[in-house]
Amino acid sequence: MSKVESGPHAAVSARNLRKAYESGRIIALDDLSLDISEGEFVAICGPSGCGKSTLLNLITCIDRPDSGSLRVFDRNLTRINDLSADAFRANDVGLVFQLHNLLPHLTALENIQVPMLGQSGSARDRSQRAAGLLQRVGLSDRMNSLPTTLSGGERQRVAVARALANQPRLILADEPTGSLDSTTGERLMDLLMELRDSMQVTLIVVTHEHGVAEKADRTIRMLDGRIDD
Ligand SMILES: Nc1ncnc2c1ncn2[C@@H]1O[C@H](COP(=O)(O)OP(=O)(O)OP(=O)(O)O)[C@@H](O)[C@H]1O
Ligand SMILES: [Mg+2]
Repeated sequence: MSKVESGPHAAVSARNLRKAYESGRIIALDDLSLDISEGEFVAICGPSGCGKSTLLNLITCIDRPDSGSLRVFDRNLTRINDLSADAFRANDVGLVFQLHNLLPHLTALENIQVPMLGQSGSARDRSQRAAGLLQRVGLSDRMNSLPTTLSGGERQRVAVARALANQPRLILADEPTGSLDSTTGERLMDLLMELRDSMQVTLIVVTHEHGVAEKADRTIRMLDGRIDD
């Protein structure tokens, strides 16, 4: 994999990305170019169907662009193979979704360790690191709780701790506050921002909510698969 050309401080560098579905009938991304700096907190807004999740899926290597180029940190993701994509996703990015996606039969502490499986370190190490992350998100007293016994906001905090499991450089969150009331959503955003500052991660949050976008360093608006500027 080749080094970044746009400088050492680029987290995401996308050029002319295109992504179509349904044999080209649906253009999800249409010549989209975008730069995000390391350590930046960017909010991505735009109407339903404008391509926000498609863009996140490319940045997290869940999917590949039809054309254009995409670099994240020092990696060229444009045509990355599945094995390297899995490794990239496991090591370099943390994901938070609208619904927590926690495994229901595992405790909070166990859920956070799921991404750590397959990494080096002993079971004891993993458990200690997971406990440390739960402490960071203010849930050390709920380590052994199952997701069903946690509130929506607490589940999202566990999901944030899980996203941090492998010390990613980039956190992507797709409507992380979408299932929360406004006060709980605001607390979750404050937590993400505090983590951004203390762990020096780059934070990309897709949101429909003005309150969330206002907290960001920069808001990127999308429309019909493009940046709306
Ligand atoms: N796997 C897929 N197969 C077919 N069409 C898809 C697929 N994924 C996304 N699309 C289409 O691509 C377009 C962009 O979808 P995307 O999910 O990126 O939108 P979005 O901005 O995230 O919307 P929302 O705010 O509703 O989540 C939409 O027209 C959607 O129907
Ligand atoms: Mg979406």
